[in-house]
Amino acid sequence: MTTPDPHAPPELPPEPIEIAAGTLQLRPWEHRLVPELLAAMRDPVWREWAVAKVPETEEAAGAWIDARLRAWREGRVLSFAVQDATTAELLGSVTLRSFGIWPRAADIGFWTAPAARQRGVAVAAVNVVTRWAFTSLELNRLTLYHALQNTAACQVATAAGYLLEGVARGALPRAGGGWFDMEMHARLAGDPAPRPAAPTP
Ligand SMILES: CC(C)(COP(=O)(O)OP(=O)(O)OC[C@H]1O[C@@H](n2cnc3c(N)ncnc32)[C@H](O)[C@@H]1OP(=O)(O)O)[C@@H](O)C(=O)NCCC(=O)NCCS
Repeated sequence: MTTPDPHAPPELPPEPIEIAAGTLQLRPWEHRLVPELLAAMRDPVWREWAVAKVPETEEAAGAWIDARLRAWREGRVLSFAVQDATTAELLGSVTLRSFGIWPRAADIGFWTAPAARQRGVAVAAVNVVTRWAFTSLELNRLTLYHALQNTAACQVATAAGYLLEGVARGALPRAGGGWFDMEMHARLAGDPAPRPAAPTP
């Protein structure tokens, strides 16, 4: 394998792709998922940490999905719907964004639907996308930001091998008003892999 030019931008897949990961399947967003997406976004915990306006109607959720598909094709945001590989139930999401700020770096974001929480879904899905970003996209760094008070997200970051680097104060607006201080974790391609995590059924 040749070493990528560290100054060159990564070659992103031009169309949304699918990644098989054992009991999880990471798939492109599709309109079939609108009802499950709306249900996940109605969760008060999801809303507590939301930084953008939350879609409230089927139409708005459809537009949210269209925007993600468009952003992938424009090479700005690569967002996966995390699904149960057997039932295709929507379990959560993992997203890579902020391409182009630094040549071989991006940010990673994630959430898990309420019914699928505390089963290792977030850690497993973040690990899968992290591995893919380092191997297929040949990124060198992924940064994971979470609101300072979001202890569950901090646990995910730590379990997925993202080291704490500091706090970005007042970095993101809260959907409900005000600003979030964001704790910054990062993982490098050369960092040791975290303990293997597999979601429990
Ligand atoms: C934070 C969130 C993604 C965790 O998803 P999840 O699939 O339940 O996480 P996992 O099952 O992979 O758990 C990972 C670790 O976090 C811990 N954890 C998960 N939820 C927790 C909670 N509510 N309180 C305390 N610890 C929690 C797990 O015990 C596990 O710890 P371990 O590695 O020591 O075993 C999920 O609660 C969520 O989507 N919340 C709302 C939106 C959000 O916060 N998004 C993150 C924005 S950065």
